[in-house]
Amino acid sequence: MVEKKVSDKISKIRPSGIRRMFDLAQGVPNIISLGIGQPDFDTPDYIKNAMKKALDNKYTGYSPNIGYKELREAIVNKYEEEYDLNYEPNDVIVTCGACEALFDICQAILNEGDEVLVPDPGFLTYPAQVIFAGGIPVPYQTKEEDDFEIKIEEIESKITKKTKMIILNFPNNPTGAVMDKKKMNELIEFIEKKDIFILSDECYEKLIYDNLKHICVPTLGAKNKTFIVNSFSKSYAMTGWRVGYLLAPSEFIAPINLVHQMNTACTNSAAQIACVEALNNKDESLKFIKKMVSEFDKRRKFVFKRASEIPNISCNLTKGAFYFLLNIKNTGLSAQEFSELMITDAKVVTVPGDEFGDIGKDYVRIAYTLDIKKLDEAFNRIENTLNK
Ligand SMILES: Cc1ncc(COP(=O)(O)O)c(C=O)c1O
Repeated sequence: MVEKKVSDKISKIRPSGIRRMFDLAQGVPNIISLGIGQPDFDTPDYIKNAMKKALDNKYTGYSPNIGYKELREAIVNKYEEEYDLNYEPNDVIVTCGACEALFDICQAILNEGDEVLVPDPGFLTYPAQVIFAGGIPVPYQTKEEDDFEIKIEEIESKITKKTKMIILNFPNNPTGAVMDKKKMNELIEFIEKKDIFILSDECYEKLIYDNLKHICVPTLGAKNKTFIVNSFSKSYAMTGWRVGYLLAPSEFIAPINLVHQMNTACTNSAAQIACVEALNNKDESLKFIKKMVSEFDKRRKFVFKRASEIPNISCNLTKGAFYFLLNIKNTGLSAQEFSELMITDAKVVTVPGDEFGDIGKDYVRIAYTLDIKKLDEAFNRIENTLNK
């Protein structure tokens, strides 16, 4: 008889309930999923072709652990051109998606018992990554009445002697929130005075609306203690390619790279070459991103209008990413009950908000990663079910 059990660490991690919803939806005919957190666009051809060419040119072996220099140079150029930030290629590590960048940073920085402030509602990977590294996730809440922006008082009330890092994520998954520049400036000024690191997950930087400009956190200060995490997944519709990266103050690169090296050796070599094309072929990338953002913007306005017309459901007009948190409190259903009812009756998949933290219990997340016709049909169905 084997007496051994899985690790205590693993048993502390809540399995994603999103999977449960997808399982429930399995086999339901004609179902519409508003649960998918990835662009419904295909990776543009010029990037695919660069990958094909890279394979023909024998980019089929390991790359340097830290990533190809050409790609790290292209990333450095991007930060200089777009944000006027100066990094060296050696301040960049190319990772297997932003997920691995989060993992590597947490493993390299956290000690047992260190506290990390994580957004609630927030991307459900954050608490898990902190726990994997022996840390303690401490949720800080953002509220609908504040457009899900961060209040300094909330952060101040959660900082203790054990706080090692705060995770910021704008544009945000699942709220779609973007911080106002003045408020973000005040927040960074406040955090800068504290003895804590910042991990800024900026994966949705390109998905921002109403002519707002993305705020890259170190442009406001604290560059010497900020880790930027970014990815090709959402900006270039490349979720399956698994290429992300991190930028860190120079002295943290070696320890973070050690985690990366021991864990994955390197990111997919040919995919890295395709990512050089994504960054350096600026004309094509600008065109692609503009087209994608303009389509998401139309859908954003459409969903906001439809959701606002349904009794007992409400939401704020989001400013970024491709998500809405719908407030469903007035339906009298819990988030889990609402999502289950939508699958079984309306045949529409939504994600219960409590998957993203306690604050989410009165919300469900929807992703507008479907065309307007399907979104329209989904809202017709939601409305019919709620009217029954
Ligand atoms: C906020 C946020 N960060 C990171 C990721 C992971 O991105 P990647 O595909 O680069 O691992 C996601 C994916 O949904 C996300 O929503």
